[in-house]
Amino acid sequence: MMRRSLLLAVLLSGAPALAAGNPPPITTDSGAPLGTNQSSKTAGPRGGILLEDFALIEKLARFDRERIPERVVHARGVGAYGSFESYGDFSQLTRASVFSQKGKKTPMFVRFSTVIHPSGSPETLRDPRGFALKFYTDQGNWDLVGNNLPIFFIRDAIKFPDMVHSLKPSPITNRQDPNRFFDFFSHQPESTHMLTQLYSDLGIPASYRQMDGNGVHAYKFVNAKGEVKYVKFNWKSQQGVKGLTVEEATKLGGEDFQHATHDLYTNIQQGKFPSWELSVQVLDPKDLDSFSFDPLDATKEWPKDKLPPVKLGKFTLNKMPDNFFEETEQAAFSPGVVPPGIEPSEDRLLQGRLFSYADTQRYRVGANYLSLPVNHARTAVNNNSQAGAMNTANTKSDVNYEPSITKETMDTPAALLSQAPLSGTTQQRAIDKTDNFAQAGAFWAALDAGGKERLVQNLAGDLGQVRDAKVKARLVGFFYTANADYGTRLAKAVNVKLDDAKAAMAPLAAR
Ligand code: HEM
Repeated sequence: MMRRSLLLAVLLSGAPALAAGNPPPITTDSGAPLGTNQSSKTAGPRGGILLEDFALIEKLARFDRERIPERVVHARGVGAYGSFESYGDFSQLTRASVFSQKGKKTPMFVRFSTVIHPSGSPETLRDPRGFALKFYTDQGNWDLVGNNLPIFFIRDAIKFPDMVHSLKPSPITNRQDPNRFFDFFSHQPESTHMLTQLYSDLGIPASYRQMDGNGVHAYKFVNAKGEVKYVKFNWKSQQGVKGLTVEEATKLGGEDFQHATHDLYTNIQQGKFPSWELSVQVLDPKDLDSFSFDPLDATKEWPKDKLPPVKLGKFTLNKMPDNFFEETEQAAFSPGVVPPGIEPSEDRLLQGRLFSYADTQRYRVGANYLSLPVNHARTAVNNNSQAGAMNTANTKSDVNYEPSITKETMDTPAALLSQAPLSGTTQQRAIDKTDNFAQAGAFWAALDAGGKERLVQNLAGDLGQVRDAKVKARLVGFFYTANADYGTRLAKAVNVKLDDAKAAMAPLAAR
């Protein structure tokens, strides 16, 4: 107590704040030294606390506002910084400078996540894993917001909020319930492929380091001549891919439910830097119609034999953020954040995402979310966007409009977006080539005996809880249509008659 009062006297006398041997003074948010941080100002020994204790009110009010809304999906996550190195000059494919020269390095921030449950939920649950990449390129940022699985449940953004509602805890009981999400999926034969991969060994990654990443959608590469190719991104873990069985995940969940976060911190802090090799499959727009499926459908993989991956480079993660909230929680990724040379395709799921991410980030973090250091481009940002809450980058010039005779800027014709041919009339209808089952069947067929057994067991564990016989039968019908052996084994495991399964799914087969 004595020491604190002395310090205050020193401060008020204008002497240097850090007298030798003394710790720094604790202060208010506005920088004034605090008399004490241990006792509120009361009206005498028994009286209430006085409202005039400004420092107390400020402290409580500031604490009351510590949380921002968590992400509506992918709330639990962990981020790390790293660097991407290009394997070569890929300018014949894209004018994106990140790929313009062998050995070129681009700094990155990456965030891994689980999808459905809140920010403090276990990392041992069956769930797709988010794998979002931010490249701070010298042409502005590029966000490649991917997942560990190469495909998705649905192919049109209009279905996304309903799907997520069904997967999230019930609005009545606050528990996740297979009755609800399988009810939704029993109307979506297109989800057969994703459900098959999710209930396989890929559905609970052993760690974030031991999983691959995928862009899922088709994007476009555009070169300097304006030539367009459709591309799909994949990044392969150099640590190998490993999943947990349900038994392993249950045990681990009891021991350390945040093992994946722990694993990433530990490895990077010990200098064991994880890395991934980024590649791309390339499709000429003239070949869009040459498959049994629609290449712009996010429920489909592109065949590797027909469209062999081209290795573009490798990224390595080597530094954990200094502060979780400031960097990881406030990080904002959006599929719409692309540099010249990379553009979204017409994929109907991706088109909805282009709106949703920046919209939620303006709500979740605020209008100036892109000014935060983790989100800010490493290039100069030069436009007339201004003001808004928490703005720190307002123009110092009177000319906050463009064009102006006194403050000239120039357009960059080389950054004009590519041109796409259009046809037909506006419409609201499903795509022509749904092909809902073939790739799920091929995935099943490629599994070894153990993988098949675990897939059936995992699916039966959740589907077996479904009370509605029609919902159960439809789902079995979907998996049966994908592969008769798969469906037959599942039917047995969840006690559904195959004839009932076939009859229940028949009206949905062509959907
Ligand atoms: C996060 C919407 C599909 C991967 C989010 C967020 C929203 C969202 C609103 C929260 C963003 C934030 O608060 O910063 C949607 C919609 C989709 C969709 C509307 C479909 C129409 C997908 C797909 C993928 C994906 C297909 C994978 C390719 C992610 C990832 C994150 C995320 C990785 C977390 C990003 C981070 O770490 O901050 N999504 N999503 N989403 N989404 Fe999606």
